[in-house]
Amino acid sequence: MFRFVTQELTSQYNYLQLSSKFGAAHAYPGFSSLFVHLSNEDYSTADKLVRFIALRKIQVDRLINKIGIKINSDIQSVMDLRNSLTQAKENNKRSWRELERCHKIAVDKNEFNIQDYLETNQLEHHIKVEKLLSDIENRIDEVRSDQTELIKFMIDEELLETYGDRRTKVW
Ligand SMILES: [Fe+2]
Repeated sequence: MFRFVTQELTSQYNYLQLSSKFGAAHAYPGFSSLFVHLSNEDYSTADKLVRFIALRKIQVDRLINKIGIKINSDIQSVMDLRNSLTQAKENNKRSWRELERCHKIAVDKNEFNIQDYLETNQLEHHIKVEKLLSDIENRIDEVRSDQTELIKFMIDEELLETYGDRRTKVW
């Protein structure tokens, strides 16, 4: 389970990195705030996992694995908003894969509590994030190319409305 914690904390910092790309220079405050929101959610996932591990008295050697927390190189090099959504989805999928790995171990060991916890608390969340990001991608991809900037601007406004301006929490 500790690998899952590391993964969620890594994911948290990767979303923050995406947020910082669009917070100032490229000025998409709504998208920037969405990424801060996703980052906060992953922090709380990691926090809940740690509590769950502590409550179950599962033996833990370390919470952060040896390689530590790294910003993914594809996320580091993101320049364009459309690509940031693809990278955010990849970020979510990395956690999802880790979640499935943990779930499989729990199934093999007949750990019903852990299976249930992972299904209800974690799986649903990662499905929801995948859907949210895919919906935004589709809305951008559906329009004619001369309207791409307009739709990005409109979605940005909606996101700002939904999540509020969270950029101040980063800088
Ligand atoms: Fe996550």
